[in-house]
Amino acid sequence: MSLKLPIYMDYNATTPVDQRVVEAMLPYFTEHFGNAASLDHEFGSVAQEAVTRARQQIAELISAKADDIIFTSGATESDNIALFGIAESYADKGDHIITSAIEHKAILDTAQHLEQLGKSVTYLPVDQYGQVNPEAVRQVITPRTVLISIMAANNEIGTVTALKEIGAIAQEHNVIFHTDGAQYVGHLPLDVSELKIDLLSISAHKMYGPKGIGALYIRPTNPPLKVAPVIYGGGHERGVRSGTLNVPAIVGFGVAATLCQEELPTEEPRLRNLTLRMFAEISEAVKGVELNGHPTQRLPHNLNLSFKGIRSKPFIKALKNIAISAGSACNAASTKPSHVVSALGFDEERAYSSLRYSLGRYTTEEEVDYAISTTIKMTKLLKQFF
Ligand SMILES: Cc1ncc(COP(=O)(O)O)c(C=O)c1O
Repeated sequence: MSLKLPIYMDYNATTPVDQRVVEAMLPYFTEHFGNAASLDHEFGSVAQEAVTRARQQIAELISAKADDIIFTSGATESDNIALFGIAESYADKGDHIITSAIEHKAILDTAQHLEQLGKSVTYLPVDQYGQVNPEAVRQVITPRTVLISIMAANNEIGTVTALKEIGAIAQEHNVIFHTDGAQYVGHLPLDVSELKIDLLSISAHKMYGPKGIGALYIRPTNPPLKVAPVIYGGGHERGVRSGTLNVPAIVGFGVAATLCQEELPTEEPRLRNLTLRMFAEISEAVKGVELNGHPTQRLPHNLNLSFKGIRSKPFIKALKNIAISAGSACNAASTKPSHVVSALGFDEERAYSSLRYSLGRYTTEEEVDYAISTTIKMTKLLKQFF
């Protein structure tokens, strides 16, 4: 079979919607169009049943209960609800939040806004692999700390956080633990109870579901966690997130969750082997290639490399048949180097020369071969100019 160009290697930015997900969604645009809150007739109850099923499917993926899932418009909104919602609800307990320097902007910008509102935020540094030291978390907890928010896996460098250790420290100190799981959920197994996660942000479009739908898991506790809403209205989603539910997207999200759960045991090793092979073959052929992120504690499908002496922007242009990125999609317009690679503590050059390849469900061996050989060829060409 001939290779179809361009090839997509930007799955950390977004994933295509799985055809099986699309098919499951379609009837909910037309024949089953009811409002999931209109429970006085069958149109509404059919929609509500579909939402209940999806809630269950998403809960199963993270070993939670359906009732603990709140639907949102995506991980950005879930992150905002987690930070604003906890900061507001626990204002009488304290005003301090702990996060990390390499979070997604959905957390960093929200945290900065909370600072403007008078809250105090600690941005923990990371080590050269992009990991937060759990003991550093313990050291900055004060009696006024209400929330720890550290991402589960980084969207640029793929480093996975020591969630279990941080979760245990949070619980020991009676501090609420939120993690942004947008890049992690569906790609690596996750059990919210085992990791002692209180709040978890999830995004459907990073796991072969549609865009514009996500979830926030809220741990059931006694007394229940108080999460003040960011959006007010009809009191949907236990009053945490008002607004008519996007039933087709929710149905798609649910099916996407089940498919990830089923395919994870084979996809994780397949993608890990492919990214390892890419790294091995590229670094053998090209001098001065560095892996950004943790060598083993990383997402199976992410490969972030810095090429000494080559700037990422012209490199991406030169690799025009391979859809990759320099950092996160949200920062694509920025000329500043990635805040994530910069936080690893290397020279600025390394941050300016980082490239993110992210693979996924439809990536083939053949595409990987093409990406490897084209990358090697282009580095040789570009090195003549830089
Ligand atoms: C770590 C992380 N958090 C949050 C988001 C935002 O997710 P969404 O696009 O669902 O709002 C992304 C996606 O870019 C992400 O990678």
